[in-house]
Amino acid sequence: MRQRLSPVLTLALLLAAVLAIAVAGGISDAEAGQSSRVSVPAPAKGKGDSCVAETEFMRRYHMTVLNHQRDDTVHDGIRTRQFSLKGCIACHAVEGADARPVTYESPQHFCRTCHEYAAVQIDCFQCHASRPEDDKAAGNATEPNHRSVRSLAEYLERAQQ
Ligand code: HEC
Ligand code: HEC
Ligand code: HEC
Repeated sequence: MRQRLSPVLTLALLLAAVLAIAVAGGISDAEAGQSSRVSVPAPAKGKGDSCVAETEFMRRYHMTVLNHQRDDTVHDGIRTRQFSLKGCIACHAVEGADARPVTYESPQHFCRTCHEYAAVQIDCFQCHASRPEDDKAAGNATEPNHRSVRSLAEYLERAQQ
């Protein structure tokens, strides 16, 4: 004997499915508004009242502005202060258990909080300090290792290939 769903039950199931799809769509729209594609963890709040640009803009485009800044500085000698990497590190320092800013080694580092989720790898801190340089106790380990601009130019060429 064939089991048949009553028309009322069928309709109810259909409505539930439509509702579930609508809700899921709403959530992913909200998430898309927060970041591109990835679910965002809760990065520590930066110092001061605001970032160097709209927070929403920074979430989405910090990689672009940082890279342009890098190219401008290295190739053309232009230094605008707005998107300085040193600035990011200064305002977004996160203190560890020893009450000193953590380096990029730590999963607590501001720049790692989202990158872990998004599986983004950055090599910036091979050369750049990942915590404020005026933290004297940091010692040499996190000082930028003063490679020549020439080696950077070579690096950029490789990166563009
Ligand atoms: C091979 C070493 C090296 C790597 C890797 C590197 N940089 Fe740099 N970067 C330099 C050097 C050298 C300068 C020019 C000297 C300076 O301004 O400190 C510079 C300058 C900059 C500047 C302008 C100065 C400032 O503090 O704002 C920014 C921004 C920057 N880099 C961002 C990045 C980002 C983002 C990455 C990773 C995607 C990166 N760099 C990777 C060596 C490097
Ligand atoms: C003057 C201090 C300051 C500087 C410099 C600064 N930020 Fe910020 N940043 C903040 C503050 C404060 C917030 C939180 C603003 C808010 O809650 O709306 C923030 C928010 C952010 C966010 C969003 C974090 C989240 O919760 O989703 C990102 C990403 C970010 N900053 C990246 C950067 C980068 C990259 C740089 C360097 C180019 C930088 N910031 C420089 C203070 C700063
Ligand atoms: C709010 C979350 C968030 C925070 C905080 C954050 N990032 Fe990112 N970052 C991302 C995401 C997501 C991507 C990948 C974007 C894509 O692939 O479209 C990314 C990509 C990048 C890239 C480009 C990597 C590549 O493969 O080219 C750089 C460089 C970068 N971030 C630097 C930083 C630095 C430096 C900090 C700390 C000052 C930082 N980010 C903090 C979310 C974040």
